[in-house]
Amino acid sequence: MYSVAVLTISDKGHAGEREDRSGREIRAIVEAFGYVVSHAAILPDEEAQITAELCRLADQAVAHLILTTGGTGFSHRDRTPEATLAAVERLCPGLPEAMRAFSLSKTPRAMLSRSVAGIRKNSLIVNLPGSPRAVRECLEYIIEPIGHGLDILLGKSGDCARKE
Ligand code: MTE
Repeated sequence: MYSVAVLTISDKGHAGEREDRSGREIRAIVEAFGYVVSHAAILPDEEAQITAELCRLADQAVAHLILTTGGTGFSHRDRTPEATLAAVERLCPGLPEAMRAFSLSKTPRAMLSRSVAGIRKNSLIVNLPGSPRAVRECLEYIIEPIGHGLDILLGKSGDCARKE
């Protein structure tokens, strides 16, 4: 059973001015796939603070999977991808590539998300966009392959042979 940390990145959410519907959406989806949420927090769009929290969660092994939501767009305050790039040791470009490719069938605006993903120590960090709908569309598409990726990262599977 793998653990998940949910980080909602939102100035308004952090100030208590917006309900954290996207964080709730992530929790519902990952729990439906058998993950346990070990940590959840709302952070402001402060790059250094986000990087520090991502590093802490990975270095203290708080969660195998760290999912952020928000701060991936074009606003000057949107710094989640930069904060993530500063925290990760290895990039996983296939995950955001897949999210954007799939999401373009839902809305052309999917190309506006600058999300990234990568590995720090034994944790996989993935940026999701900010809206609950975008979270659902993206996360439901990548969650099954992520399980296989975590198996490999954590040494529980070295075998990628497909059964079908
Ligand atoms: N991806 C999906 N699947 N569905 C969406 O509705 N919205 C897009 C994009 N990705 C969207 C999506 C929009 S409108 C923006 S501006 C970017 O994500 C960035 O969102 P963020 O700044 O909230 O992270």
